[in-house]
Amino acid sequence: MGAGISVAECLASAASVPCMTHDLSRDGTFDRGKMEFMEHNMAAVEPITSLTLRRPDDWHLHLRDGAMLSAVVADTAQHFGRAIVMPNLVPPVLTGADASAYRDRILAHCAGYPKFQPLMTLYLTETTDANDVVKAAEAGIVHAVKLYPAGATTNSASGVRDFDKVRPVLEAMAEIGLPLCIHGEVTEPSVDIFDREAVFIDRVLRPLRAAVPSLKMILEHVTTADGVDFVRDAGDNMAATITTHHLFINRNHILAGGLRPHYYCLPVAKRERHRLALVAAATSGARQFFLGTDSAPHLDTDKQSACGCAGIYTAPNTLSCLAHVFEAESALEQLEAFTSLNGAAFYGLPPANDTIKLVKRDEAVVFPASRKTANGEVTIFDCGVPLYWEIDAGPMRV
Ligand code: NCD
Ligand code: ZN
Repeated sequence: MGAGISVAECLASAASVPCMTHDLSRDGTFDRGKMEFMEHNMAAVEPITSLTLRRPDDWHLHLRDGAMLSAVVADTAQHFGRAIVMPNLVPPVLTGADASAYRDRILAHCAGYPKFQPLMTLYLTETTDANDVVKAAEAGIVHAVKLYPAGATTNSASGVRDFDKVRPVLEAMAEIGLPLCIHGEVTEPSVDIFDREAVFIDRVLRPLRAAVPSLKMILEHVTTADGVDFVRDAGDNMAATITTHHLFINRNHILAGGLRPHYYCLPVAKRERHRLALVAAATSGARQFFLGTDSAPHLDTDKQSACGCAGIYTAPNTLSCLAHVFEAESALEQLEAFTSLNGAAFYGLPPANDTIKLVKRDEAVVFPASRKTANGEVTIFDCGVPLYWEIDAGPMRV
């Protein structure tokens, strides 16, 4: 909520959800003055109104299973070439056989998008079998292993507590060049939730890198300037994914003037200075940083609850949101590196051999507010500012 709007007014209007719409700039978090200045400047030079990119990949995505999977997968498959699919199902994707079966279930919903490739991951536990991991990787089924510290986030109860126990798996992965995707937050209740990423870097990530220096690691959904600095200086086999929503929201958007469950995710959005560090990293084009949307659909009934789930559903409007941010930073020429080149290079895969086209409309593009599933609705991320960029690919899914 912006200045001058009371909590009562916000609550009164909550039924139609207008209090979450287009308020970001009034929180002072999006520098509209700077954006307008840049837009004006760009217009004076040469307005860019269309952009052709190698087809993007999403290096961190939650597709879920069953009814949710069938409702959401097309939002990614219609625009993205590949996606690293997170393994935090209930029960988790633990073995090569689990990953292969899950991949088949995903592809069963992708008949209309034959080029889309789900890249599967395994959920690392203290009993993961290194041989199974290596076999699944060598068979081309598994493209990464995901490390969740136990209890860090949605469905992470079977994650890792004792890092010595996973050492043999990490060493086997290092040998074959299989990346470790890391949810970088400590889980100790005594550590403030806004400090959990920075503390993780010092207490866990640095020692882990010293222990297995040749392992490729990705600090997933980095949310802090500390994380950006660490990754930038860490060397060739360290990278980070950056989400769409963390480029837009800071912690005020979740908490100031009313509690906004649809902006709640983990790692939780931090202070504005951290958001700015993420924008700078993403728009720099630096090879270490690439898109992992962390698009994480939950039913609205599970988010709008006394104990709401963490996760933001950004798949439907991610590319429009990103074009907006990159344009505001006068960095549209770096968008392709972020969405389509850096991730593939880090994973040792070729970039896509086809393209998508983004066009800038004169009128703001209207996205659906939610995605319907057989069990209820999933609210789509409202980035808080009008979006003019869209993918030039026929009618939008409604
Ligand atoms: C993710 C989910 O819902 O599975 N939630 C989230 O807030 N990002 C899990 C995760 O990536 O932490
Ligand atoms: Zn995630």
